[in-house]
Amino acid sequence: MTDDSPIRVETHGRVGLITLHRPQQLNALNDALMDELGAALLAFDADPGIGAIVITGSDKAFAAGADIEAMADWTFMDVTQDNFITRNWETIRAVRKPVIAAVAGYAMGGGCELALACDIVVAAESARFALPEIKLAMLPGAGGTQRLPRAIGKAKAMDMCLSARMLDAQEADRYGLVSRVVPDAELLERSLALAAQIASFSLPALAAIKESVNRAWESPLTEGILFERRALYGRFASSDAHEGMHAFLDKRRPDFQHR
Ligand code: HXC
Repeated sequence: MTDDSPIRVETHGRVGLITLHRPQQLNALNDALMDELGAALLAFDADPGIGAIVITGSDKAFAAGADIEAMADWTFMDVTQDNFITRNWETIRAVRKPVIAAVAGYAMGGGCELALACDIVVAAESARFALPEIKLAMLPGAGGTQRLPRAIGKAKAMDMCLSARMLDAQEADRYGLVSRVVPDAELLERSLALAAQIASFSLPALAAIKESVNRAWESPLTEGILFERRALYGRFASSDAHEGMHAFLDKRRPDFQHR
C-alpha cells in the first residue's frame, strides 16, 4: 500500500479498519480500489489478532458507486475477459469474520451494494442509499438485484432499482437495509465500539453464526435448520463454548482462546 493507495488500513485492538480513500471521486469503486479492498479483507481474515472488520468512507460518501469514468468505454469482451465483478467484487463473501459497514453520506450503486454485502450496516444520519444504475441504462450488478430484495423485500427493492429512489438513513432503517442509525459525529466511534464488542467474543462461534445466518438467505428453511443444527453440534467441539458456559456458571468473565 502506498500514499496514493485508494484505501487506508488500520487496526484498533482486535478490530481491523479499512477506510475507502478516493476523495476526489467520492470513493468511486475502481479495480485498484476493489483489488486493495479485497486484499485487505483477506489479510484481516487471516490475522488471528483480528476479530471483526469495519469498512468506512468519508463524511460525504461511503462510495458513490462503480467508477463511471473507468467503465464508460468498456466493451462486453473487456468485462467478460477481465472477469469484471467476479474478479474482485465478491472477495468479501470469502471473509469469515464479521464485517461492519460504517456509512455516512452517499452509498450509491456499487457503494450501496458493498454495504449490502457487509454483515452489519451502521448508518450515520447523513447516509443516503440508492441504486441509480437505471439512470445510466446500467444494472445494479454487484449483488444489488439479489441482495436488496432479500434485505428489504421485492416491493421496496423494485422501487429502488427501477426508479432510482434514494433512501435516507431513517427510511433505510425502517425497511431493514441498515442495522442501526447513529449521529454523524459518532459514526466511527460507535462502529468501532460495536466491532470491538463483537471481536471480544469467540471467533469460531462468530464465524459459525455468520455462516448460519447467511445460509438463511441461500437455502430452504429445512436445509437451513439442518445446517444450523450441525453448526450447533460443532460448538461442542469448541473449548471456548465450554469456557463460556462454565464462566457463566462460575459467575466470572470468560477467557476465550478463539478455539
Ligand atoms: C466516477 C464519480 C462517481 C462515480 C461521483 N464521481 N460519482 N466518478 N464514478 N460513480 C465524481 C464526479 O464526477 C465528480 O468529479 C466528483 O466525484 C464529485 O461528484 P459531484 O457529482 O460533483 O458531487 P455532488 O454534486 O455532490 O453529487 C454527488 C452524487 C453524484 C449524487 C453522488 O456524484 C452522483 O450521482 N454520482 C454517480 C452515482 C451513480 O450513478 N452511481 C452508480 C454507478 S454505476 P469531478 O471531476 O467533476 O469533480 C454502478 C454499477 C454497479 O455502481 C454495478 C457494477 C459494479
